[in-house]
Amino acid sequence: MRLMDTIHTNAFYNAVAADYHLFFRDWWATVEREAVYLDKLLSPHGVRTVLDASCGPGTQSIALAGKGYAVTAADPSAALLDRARANAQQAGVEVTLLHASFLDLPAHVDGPFDALITTGNSFAHLLDDAEIAQALANFHGLLAPDGVLLVGIRDFDAILETRPRFLPGQIHEQGDERVIGFDIWDYNDGPPPTITFNKFFVRGDGEAWAVTHAPVVYRALREAELRAFLERAGFVDTERADHWWEMLLVSRRGKAKGGGKNVRRRS
Ligand SMILES: C[S@@+](CC[C@H](N)C(=O)[O-])C[C@H]1O[C@@H](n2cnc3c(N)ncnc32)[C@H](O)[C@@H]1O
Repeated sequence: MRLMDTIHTNAFYNAVAADYHLFFRDWWATVEREAVYLDKLLSPHGVRTVLDASCGPGTQSIALAGKGYAVTAADPSAALLDRARANAQQAGVEVTLLHASFLDLPAHVDGPFDALITTGNSFAHLLDDAEIAQALANFHGLLAPDGVLLVGIRDFDAILETRPRFLPGQIHEQGDERVIGFDIWDYNDGPPPTITFNKFFVRGDGEAWAVTHAPVVYRALREAELRAFLERAGFVDTERADHWWEMLLVSRRGKAKGGGKNVRRRS
């Protein structure tokens, strides 16, 4: 990811932070659903400590903290971290929050963690091969031996097959106002192929309507590419465990390879 991409991605998330829950029909119901699914995936591995490397407003972090996991949650969007803090407080759970990106995680936190998760299509914000490799090396270095990595992104193989352009979102009633969300996706064949998600909200009360628009770019990372990056970074036993709209790959930290340092938890 080039510096300008990072700046644009952060600008996007800071701009939409106040409206983030409107992307969902019911954000708190999503947190409940994530809790059930993630716990089912992680508990058989004996996971106790989790680093959520792209927590946003806490969708998965709060879910896991509610299930009793010790959760550290990082995100580069300061506005989303503020929402995560407020949401955790509202849920009555403790989450340690960090202002960090995939690329500078080791400067902000020590491991080892039993599991590291990045879901909600966050990893597809890395556009560059070198930065994908760096992020995975960082994850590898922060995981305990045999630790579990979950990477959840959209199923870009299926998306590139049909190239949908118009994606309906949700309709919310807020006071007298109706808020209608939808996406327009623009394709760039690359290499690497990317998709600009243009997020629109139309708000009004029946008479007067206003439109807001914010674009953000994702790399259309195919499953085979992601698997190859994981293997090169030293991850093993990768399996697919799709959830909702997400292609979720579950891997284990292998013993030898991977560029990240193996670090101890601060006492
Ligand atoms: C669609 S949101 C998903 C957030 C949350 N996991 C969820 O499912 O609601 C994508 C998240 O990725 C984060 N993100 C973007 N670039 C990132 C990077 N380089 N490192 C870590 N997180 C990043 C954004 O700030 C945002 O919170």
